[in-house]
Amino acid sequence: MDFGAVLFLLLIACISYMIVMYGKMLQKRGQLPPGPMPLPIIGNLLQVNTDNTAKSLIALSKKYGPVFTIHLGSKPRLILCGYETVKEALIDQAEEFGGRGPFPVFLNFTKGNDLAFSNGEKWKDLHKFVLQTLRNFGMGKRSIEERIQEEVQFLITELRKTKQLPFDPTLIFGRAISNVIFSVVFGSRFNYEDKTFRTIVSTINENFHIISSFWGTMYNIYPEIMDYLPGPHKKLFANHEVQRVILQDAVKAHQETLDPDSPRDFIDAFLIKMQKEKKNPTTSFFTESLIMTVHTLLYGGTDTVTTTLRYGVLILMKFPEVAEKIQEEINQVIGQNRPPAMEDRKKMPYTDAVIQEIQRFASISPLALPHLVMQDTQLKGYKIPKDITVIAVLASVHHDPAHYEKPEVFNPANFLDEKGCIKKNDALMIFSAGQRICPGENLARMEVFLFFTTLLQNFTFQPLGSREDINLTPVGSNLENLPQPYQCCAIPR
Ligand code: HEM
Repeated sequence: MDFGAVLFLLLIACISYMIVMYGKMLQKRGQLPPGPMPLPIIGNLLQVNTDNTAKSLIALSKKYGPVFTIHLGSKPRLILCGYETVKEALIDQAEEFGGRGPFPVFLNFTKGNDLAFSNGEKWKDLHKFVLQTLRNFGMGKRSIEERIQEEVQFLITELRKTKQLPFDPTLIFGRAISNVIFSVVFGSRFNYEDKTFRTIVSTINENFHIISSFWGTMYNIYPEIMDYLPGPHKKLFANHEVQRVILQDAVKAHQETLDPDSPRDFIDAFLIKMQKEKKNPTTSFFTESLIMTVHTLLYGGTDTVTTTLRYGVLILMKFPEVAEKIQEEINQVIGQNRPPAMEDRKKMPYTDAVIQEIQRFASISPLALPHLVMQDTQLKGYKIPKDITVIAVLASVHHDPAHYEKPEVFNPANFLDEKGCIKKNDALMIFSAGQRICPGENLARMEVFLFFTTLLQNFTFQPLGSREDINLTPVGSNLENLPQPYQCCAIPR
């Protein structure tokens, strides 16, 4: 048979395969909640703007309702929009909707040996351990609060060095926030000039950029194909490997100096747990799960809080009257002679409300991480099959008109009652909800409060141009809503 004939037969085989797969996809689609008609191979990629997936999904929900199906590539995703629907799924059916769906940019590295991308017994064991360790262990001799207070003072010193000149807060905030989770995990903070520290921070940062880019999105949709293609996604895995080597070395150093009666940090606590479980053949605690869980904590604990601070400062520059009111509250409750403490928060309802509104407005984690349905169930009258991937659009909860009068407007009054006291609003799910709710929630809340108040106790932030020109629209992505890049000046008070 000549080459042309072989090529022709291969083409026919490919087309037939595609037709069969497409037929199967349509058959399956018939059993799922409604949604736009998918095309072969690309699914609904033409209807979803991957630069701002959350926005596209919210727009599609206006046509298809709060529960609908879209195909990214040939795989279906169940989309949940609005507070009631997300609550009914993630909270009222926490077990059923509590699995973790595939997210290959991480999963293909961690292989499900970590907390964020595991399922079943391993996830349960790691989840319980991480929560307990973060909670009762103020991490060694000093509490987490003290560690944050210490780090924010280092940040203040760095900001004074800017001498009121313009700077981009991304790196300067990022280093301080990274140091908090590093201190929890490794036992002590790093000097900002430390080579290892700089390598981890810069590779994590670079990976967030790649994951949020076209290449990261394509890798998540077509991992099997992308593995064979060149592109920036290759750097993603090279960076993961660099981080693995650093973490391996840290674990080894901890092993050599471990005192089982006096754990210094998260790694020590994990090593002690590994020793206790040595004889259990199905244990979830082994060296690889330690390295991968630390890896996930570093990722979970850096960019999220940094982005919240960056977005917050931008918003406060747009609304200086809000920043001034916070500073008045700081003057009344804390003054200038001591650092803010968590105790202060309940006496500072206005500041508390502004922080909640910043988090709602910015919705920095607009789609949470993908969930997985663990058993056949029902939602809003639809049959939902086991194993389907679910995207809970948290941004839609935060912009739900049934719960916020003008969702597009920044308004701290969303969280204040007539007397100026804090008003709870259930439609605030910045840390998601249900079984997979962020285990770093308490740590993050502390960080955000202590960093914001200490920053505003010491500085007023000024934009380079006029406040009217500040654009608060997020630079959207799949993973994070980022603020528009900006520079500002920190003017000492
Ligand atoms: C303002 C800061 C933060 C925000 C907005 C945030 C938000 C989130 C969200 C939305 C999820 C996905 C939950 C889901 O799948 O439904 C998540 C998961 C996670 N976060 Fe956070 N997070 C923050 C800070 C942190 C910190 C400081 C840590 C580290 C201690 C952390 C560690 C994790 C981990 C390990 C997961 C995966 C949990 C699991 O799959 O069981 N996060 N976070």
